[in-house]
Amino acid sequence: MKKNPTLKLLPLLFFLTGCAGGARNDVPLAAYQDATLPLEERIEDALSRMTLEEKVAMLHAQSKFSSAGVPRLGIPEVWCTDGPHGIRPEVLWDEWDQAGWTNDSCTAFPALTCLAATWNPAMSALYGQSIGEEARYREKDVLLGPGVNIYRTPLNGRNFEYMGEDPYLASRMVVPYVQEVQKQGVAACVKHFALNNQETRRLSVDVEVDDRALYEIYLPAFKAAVEEGGAWAVMGAYNKYKGQHCCHNEYLLNDILKGEWGFDGVVISDWGGVHDTEESIRNGLDMEFGTWTDGLRSGTRNAYDNYYLAHPYLDLLRKGAADVNTLDDKVRRVLRLIFRTAMNTQKPFGSLNSPEHLAAARQIAGEGMVLLKNDNGTLPLDAGSTKRLLVVGENAVKMMTVGGGSSSLKVRHEVTPLEGLRAAATAAGCEVVYERGYVGDPTGSYNGVTTGQDLSETRSEEQLLADAVSAAKEADAVLFIGGLNKSWGQDCEGGDRKEYGLPYAQDRVIEALAAANPRLAVVLVSGNAVAMPWVDRVPAVLEAWFSGSEAGNALADVVFGKVNPSGKLPFTFPVHLEDNAAHALGEFPGGDSVRYNESLFVGYRWHDTKAIKPLFAFGHGLSYTTFEIGNLRLSTDRLDADGSLTLRVDVTNTGDRPGAEVVQLYIGDDESFVPRPVKELKGFAKVSLQPGETQTVEFGITPASLSYYDDTKGAWTAEPGLFTAYVGAASDDIRGSVDFTLE
Ligand code: BGC
Repeated sequence: MKKNPTLKLLPLLFFLTGCAGGARNDVPLAAYQDATLPLEERIEDALSRMTLEEKVAMLHAQSKFSSAGVPRLGIPEVWCTDGPHGIRPEVLWDEWDQAGWTNDSCTAFPALTCLAATWNPAMSALYGQSIGEEARYREKDVLLGPGVNIYRTPLNGRNFEYMGEDPYLASRMVVPYVQEVQKQGVAACVKHFALNNQETRRLSVDVEVDDRALYEIYLPAFKAAVEEGGAWAVMGAYNKYKGQHCCHNEYLLNDILKGEWGFDGVVISDWGGVHDTEESIRNGLDMEFGTWTDGLRSGTRNAYDNYYLAHPYLDLLRKGAADVNTLDDKVRRVLRLIFRTAMNTQKPFGSLNSPEHLAAARQIAGEGMVLLKNDNGTLPLDAGSTKRLLVVGENAVKMMTVGGGSSSLKVRHEVTPLEGLRAAATAAGCEVVYERGYVGDPTGSYNGVTTGQDLSETRSEEQLLADAVSAAKEADAVLFIGGLNKSWGQDCEGGDRKEYGLPYAQDRVIEALAAANPRLAVVLVSGNAVAMPWVDRVPAVLEAWFSGSEAGNALADVVFGKVNPSGKLPFTFPVHLEDNAAHALGEFPGGDSVRYNESLFVGYRWHDTKAIKPLFAFGHGLSYTTFEIGNLRLSTDRLDADGSLTLRVDVTNTGDRPGAEVVQLYIGDDESFVPRPVKELKGFAKVSLQPGETQTVEFGITPASLSYYDDTKGAWTAEPGLFTAYVGAASDDIRGSVDFTLE
C-alpha cells in the first residue's frame, strides 16, 4: 500500500545533491536526475536508459491505484486518488476493500455542482489549492478529477460530480481548479473525456452527437482545462463515441486532444474502461487502470501482466507487430507526468484537515447555496425572535459524504444540517426540535466505510407524518430538509435516477407541512434538479447541494443570515422532465446507442428557443438584498474581424445588507444562417456590494465570443451581422440589452 520509502526519498536526495553542486560523492548526476535541466532533456535521457520491459511496465496499473516506476533508475511509482471532492481513503492493493488506515480521513469539500453554483473562479482556485494540499499530504501524484461532463438530463446519477449545463461556466470554473491543484505538484486528471452524460449502460453505450454539439457544448470545458489550465492528465470515459470506446478513441484522443489541442500529458483510462490492446496502442491511451482481468479476478500473482497494455503489448513489440515510436511517445508522457509530480523537487508538503481547509469547505458551501424562492422574507430566520424552530427530514441528519460511488469519502468530521442549525440557533436562544417526517435510506456505507450512524426508525409512515405535522403547528418556523441522497438510483455513480420527482413520498410531507405552518422553507440536499409540485404552496426554497464536511455550519450561516446567499444555478430546473430536451426528443437513455437529437439545445438553450418556462432557470439565485443592473454602454457598436469591444454595465445594491450579485452576459446571433440558440452565456462577474454601492462591470467581446463551430469546414466561424448582448441576473431575468454589428 505504501510507496517504497527509499524511492520516496530519491527526489529529495536529488534535490539536495543538485543544490550542493550536482554531484554526490563526486558521482555526477545522470541528466534525468538533474532537476536544473530542461524537462524534455531529462525525459529523453531517462527514456534512453530504459529496457522494453521497463517501458511497458509504466503503462499499466500494478495495484488498484498505482503504476510502476523504474526501480532500477530510481524513478518512482505513480499514485492516483479519487477525486473530485476529497481524497479517497486507502484501499487494499488488489481490492476495493478498505486498507484500514487510521490516518486517511480527509476534509470533504462541497460537490462540484455546488462549486459551479458559486459562479466565482476565486472559489474554484481555493478549492483546487485546498484539495491539492490534501492530495499532496497523502502523497498522491494524480487527483482523479475534476469532472466536467455536461448536464444533459436531470436523471444522470453523476451530475453532482460535474459543473453544470453550460460550457462557458464550466470552462471558467475548471481552469483555476486545475491550476491550483497542480501548483501542489499533483496532476489534475480531468474526466470523463468525453460524452459521458449518463450512467445507464455506461460501459457500452455509443453516443451519437453532431459535430456542432460536440465542439460547442461537450468539449469546451475539457479544452479550457487542457489549453488554459494546462492539465497534466485526462481520463478517458467508459462510453463509446463513433463505435469506439473513449479510452482508446481515435477521434477524441488522437485527433482532438493530442492533435488539435496539443495535449502533452497522459491519457489515463477510466477504471476498467480498456477493451482492446491494438486500439489502445494506436488510439492515444497512455496508462491503463482498473481492468478486471481474469487473472485479477482469481487473484493470481501476476494479474496485472494480463492488462491490455502489459504482456499483450510486450508480445506485439517483441514480434515487431507494434512500433517503438508509439511506445516511446506513451513513455515520454508518463515520464513527463512523473517529473511534474512524484519527482518534482519543488513540491510542497501539503496538509490534511487543516483549519484552513475546513474554513474553505464552509466558505465554498455557503457561497454555492442557491436561494431559489423567498416570498415574504421567509429567510433568513432571526434566531433571536424564533423561539421554536422545527426541522423535518432525513437529510437533516444523514451524513452525505459516504456513498455515491468513487467520490465517496471517509471524513474526519461532518457537521450535519441539524447539528449546524442547532449550534447556531441555541447560541441565540432558539430551541430546535427535530422530526424525521419520512424514512428514505437509513443505510450509510460504501466499500467498507460506514457512517456509523443509526438511522433506524420504528414508527409507521403515517405516524411519522402525523408527528411532523403536529410539531409544525407548534413551531414558529419550519425547515424541511430533504431532497436526494447518495444511494444507488439517486445521486450515485453506476445508475441513473428512476424518476424526476422526490423519492420516499417527500412531496406528501412537504404539502402537509405547508398546510400546517405558513413559515416553511424547503432545503434541498441534492446534486440534481427535482420536480416541485408543491412550489406554489411553499414560500421559500433553498438548494443546499451536497456540501461536504461543513455542510451544517454552512447551511446555518445562510439560514440565519450570517452569509447572504449569492449562488446561482449552474443548470436549469425544468417543471416536468419532458421539458428537458433530451427527454422531449426521446433519446434518454437510448439502447446500445443514444442519439443526442437535441444537438446544441441543452438546458437553457432549449428552454429559450422553445419558450418553455423553467421551474428555476439557469443562472437564477436570489439574495437577501436586491440589486439593480443597468446603464449598458458599448465602447462601439461595430466590431471588425480582429477587433474587440467593451460592454460596461452598472450594478447597484438597492437593499439594506451587503451582498454579491452575479452579473451575466449572454449573446445572441440575430442574423444567422445556421441554427443557433436565442442566447448563450459569454461572460459573468460576481460583484460584492455594500448597501447603496454601485460598481461598473466590464465585459470584453471579441469575434470568438460570437462564433459557432462550422461543421462543413471543421473550424470556428463568426458570421457578420447583427448580434444582441443581453445582461441580467439569470438567463430568464435579463435587465437590459444592446445591439452591435460584426463587420
Ligand atoms: C469512475 C472514475 C473513478 C475511477 C476510480 C471509475 O469507476 O468512473 O471517475 O475515478 O472509478 O475510482
